[in-house]
Amino acid sequence: MSDSDDPITPLSTQLIHHDYEPPAGFGSMQPGVFKASTVIFPDVATLRARDWRSRAGYTYGLHGTPTTFTLEQRLATLEGGTYCSLAPSGLGAIATVNIALLKQGDELLLPDNVYGPSREMARSLLAQWGIAHKLYDPMDLRSYEAAFSERTRLVWIEAPGSITMEFPDLRALVRIARQRGTLVAFDNTWGGGVALRAFDLGEGLGVDLCMQALTKYPSGGGDVLMGSVVTRDRALNEKLLMAHMRLGTGVGANDAELVLRSLPSIELRYRAQDRSARRVANWLKTQPPVTHVLHPALPGAPGHEHWAAHCTDAAGLFSIILDPTLPSARVDAFCDGLKRFKLGYSWAGPVSLAVPYDLKILRGGAARHDGHLVRFSIGLEAVDDLIADLDQALRLLR
Ligand SMILES: Cc1ncc(COP(=O)(O)O)c(C=O)c1O
Repeated sequence: MSDSDDPITPLSTQLIHHDYEPPAGFGSMQPGVFKASTVIFPDVATLRARDWRSRAGYTYGLHGTPTTFTLEQRLATLEGGTYCSLAPSGLGAIATVNIALLKQGDELLLPDNVYGPSREMARSLLAQWGIAHKLYDPMDLRSYEAAFSERTRLVWIEAPGSITMEFPDLRALVRIARQRGTLVAFDNTWGGGVALRAFDLGEGLGVDLCMQALTKYPSGGGDVLMGSVVTRDRALNEKLLMAHMRLGTGVGANDAELVLRSLPSIELRYRAQDRSARRVANWLKTQPPVTHVLHPALPGAPGHEHWAAHCTDAAGLFSIILDPTLPSARVDAFCDGLKRFKLGYSWAGPVSLAVPYDLKILRGGAARHDGHLVRFSIGLEAVDDLIADLDQALRLLR
């Protein structure tokens, strides 16, 4: 190729190294969206002196940009903590905690109603690395206490538990772990940072780490996957940062932007979805063949008294149990018959969702109910439209 065929001319240099500098001091409501793998240093001395762990400067896109630092601070505020680390999904945040804090020979405790993939991570990857786990019944403090051993290093708590929605006595679970000198990580995805203060549970008790799937309420649109881990403890945060750096897990600036955009409305959305969900749940309570409504804010639901002791609000998420004598095919037909409710995993977005679960497959011997379970996530549609939709689909079961 001759020089004259070169596709690149000095125009490219001018476009890459353009000397226009926009005026400083731009003000707007939304923080800037900074995108970078490479961060530019003014000179070699600065490059050499920069510590990637310091939040006083920037080193590499993976370790933080003004956008991710801003998001981290806002999430720390949401949870009532001090430090925050971002992960590319809620499950990624759970993995970061486990990898940061556990080593070969350690044991961790998981509630028997833990988010399924978290249990699967313990059963597969953690086991492969010589880290054992035990399941405890979060509604039975004796089973919980008995699960501790000399090797227990970390306890995960979820409130309420995934799918079956039992709300445990959080303070008691934390107190017992404290007495054993064991760290407590709390999956606060359901609480969203709105329903309860996990670092301040009362009586001087609080969790050590608060993890959230930002995928749910903090993003709120059903279009982002992200997770966070917040702590008040500097040493714990250092361990999380090291795991994050060694794993190389980062989040994209556009996703961070979406969460930043949604956070100011989280309280409004959370409380609106809570209100709608309680109306729908109360209506379902009166509708055969629904035998149980598993919503921690409803009197009579498993752990309702603990919900009342710890929470001001509830997520727009609950499950129903349908008459066990119904054939599963008819329960599937009920779910297929829903029109406004879409079938899909995840929750907390504007669209209401339903998912049927087989309790025996989900919990095996630990299933507390007989029958078919359908979980609902209530979105932002008008409640009367949702009830009308459920009503027409339930008729298929009668
Ligand atoms: C309680 C809970 N924790 C963690 C997660 C994981 O979040 P992600 O889907 O962002 O990995 C979920 C997702 O459904 C969840 O329900």
